[in-house]
Amino acid sequence: MSAASAGLIPSNHSMTAPIQVHVDREIEALLSSLPNPDELSAEERRGIIARYTAVLEGNFIYWMTGAYIAAESDAARTKILENLHEEVRDSHPAMLRRFALAAQAVPTDSDAMAVYQNLTNVRMFIGKLSPVPIVVTMAFFEGFIQRFMAYLADLARRQGSSEMEYTDVHGVCDVTHTLELYRALEAEMTLANGSTPIDGMFEGVELLRTLIQNVVVNQ
Ligand SMILES: [Fe+2]
Repeated sequence: MSAASAGLIPSNHSMTAPIQVHVDREIEALLSSLPNPDELSAEERRGIIARYTAVLEGNFIYWMTGAYIAAESDAARTKILENLHEEVRDSHPAMLRRFALAAQAVPTDSDAMAVYQNLTNVRMFIGKLSPVPIVVTMAFFEGFIQRFMAYLADLARRQGSSEMEYTDVHGVCDVTHTLELYRALEAEMTLANGSTPIDGMFEGVELLRTLIQNVVVNQ
């Protein structure tokens, strides 16, 4: 007997589970595409840290603010506000700037230009303020960042840096946090009531993945 025919409310988790599978697969693919640090030149290492900084330092809080404005559910808004609070209170942009400075990888004009188009695409996506795709993008980004931090810290160490506060703070694998994020997504999907077409669901994930690939490889 199915849950529906037994008169039970189907688990909402069944709504987000396939999305989580897709997002996790994207994260794994992106991580496995990272170049081996042993094979990178000093300039290539510097470039990755610099482009990462050019993208994150001035944009992450703005992306989260967009997510906050777009979100309609209490679960999502509470989660995003918690994140924003921490970003501002502990000044994560200042932390990232210290990280880049210590690794001698402060972004130059050409680092900013290298990511300009792909960053613009993500900004335009955020500007659409579509709640479900934005929360899916957040889940992708947070999942990726946690795992990317060890790689970024490794590059910085190879640059002679020992300033690791930024990568330490963001490299914590927080299972509860991930769970809460998917609960927030569940709440948004319930409110959206199927109004987000499945192929529009991952628009932000694809744009952000392209931007991260651009951070990693200057193309
Ligand atoms: Fe942060």
